[in-house]
Amino acid sequence: MTVAAQFTRIPHPAPVPAPRREEVLAAPGFGRFFTDHMVSIDYADGQWGNARVEPYGPLSMDPATMVFHYGQAIFEGLKAYRQPNGEIATFRIDANAARFRRSAARMAMAELPEELFIESVRQLLDVDADWVPAAGGEDSLYLRPFMFSTEAGLGVKPASAYKYLLLASPAGAYFPRGVKPVRVWLSTEYVRAAPGGTGEAKVAGNYASSLLAQAQATDEGCDQVVWLDACERRYVEEMGTNNLFFVFGTGSEARLVTPELSGSLLPGITRDSLLTLAADSGYPVQERKISVEEWREGAESGEISEVFACGTAAVITPVGWVKSGTGEFAIGGGEPGEVTMALRDTLTGIQRGTFADRHGWMQTL
Ligand code: PLP
Ligand code: COI
Repeated sequence: MTVAAQFTRIPHPAPVPAPRREEVLAAPGFGRFFTDHMVSIDYADGQWGNARVEPYGPLSMDPATMVFHYGQAIFEGLKAYRQPNGEIATFRIDANAARFRRSAARMAMAELPEELFIESVRQLLDVDADWVPAAGGEDSLYLRPFMFSTEAGLGVKPASAYKYLLLASPAGAYFPRGVKPVRVWLSTEYVRAAPGGTGEAKVAGNYASSLLAQAQATDEGCDQVVWLDACERRYVEEMGTNNLFFVFGTGSEARLVTPELSGSLLPGITRDSLLTLAADSGYPVQERKISVEEWREGAESGEISEVFACGTAAVITPVGWVKSGTGEFAIGGGEPGEVTMALRDTLTGIQRGTFADRHGWMQTL
């Protein structure tokens, strides 16, 4: 049986009427609205089965389901983009499928074969194609694959049953002010992840444990938290939902630095893509440790001219100000930088089908 033939389609009896859908697509925000359908695949008795495209709707679960107690839950985030010819394409979907497997392995969960992951996206895009925003703008369809344990019982062990679900949500800017520079909060009190922990996996619990520091960031008037390494609280790791890049120098002298993959930060697919695109544009790029002192001194002396956050949801967002318990500093006068915006144009151009896709990252499903 082909992978596609494993899916049963149960159409929504009352999909969102077109005028309401258009209203949503006119101002989608982030993660507030969902399409008519979802995909569900179950793992039991050592195999994946019961693959369905079905109406989006609530789940009914036993209160003893292990995910509620011991938290085996992982997720992914990727986007589908309307192309100028009307087709729909995804960006580096195979990288998301591979990371999803790695996250599952880290959490002792069943691994979803990559062809099933990709086929689930194909199936949902096929039935909910009208929800993909128009070509040419900033908006796209955010896809949220996730998986959790479904076995009921209170014994602490890897579950023997899992559910994989895929949702889709039309998405505009992640940060409410769009590409305006954000203000970030350096968390020195809390840590996100430690060596040997789950920081490099896309695990729901990583986000749960980040929320208190994120709330602190908000209280401090900042948009998001920046995490430091767990051992010395000195080296920059990443932001709450993004990786970070630092631009040293300006113009033809510009070079980029991003924190090396320490094992406790998420290996972002946008980060990886930007390492390639920056090199294509002739910028020297380095993956290495960067300390808070180097960041502050570099920003104050002007040697660090730009800093930006990158991730699927937030795309590329300039970082304009950094605040911590000991004070605040600005980067590049709090204005978006040239290198940041040039890389943003290149990345979004590839995603929207207006720039050549030299690396074969876009896939029409
Ligand atoms: N770091 C964290 C903690 C994230 O949640 C994300 C978002 O996915 C990223 C980095 C960026 O990863 P990606 O570029 O694969 O979306
Ligand atoms: C993504 O960019 O997909 C993320 O993971 C951010 C999300 C947690 C909102």
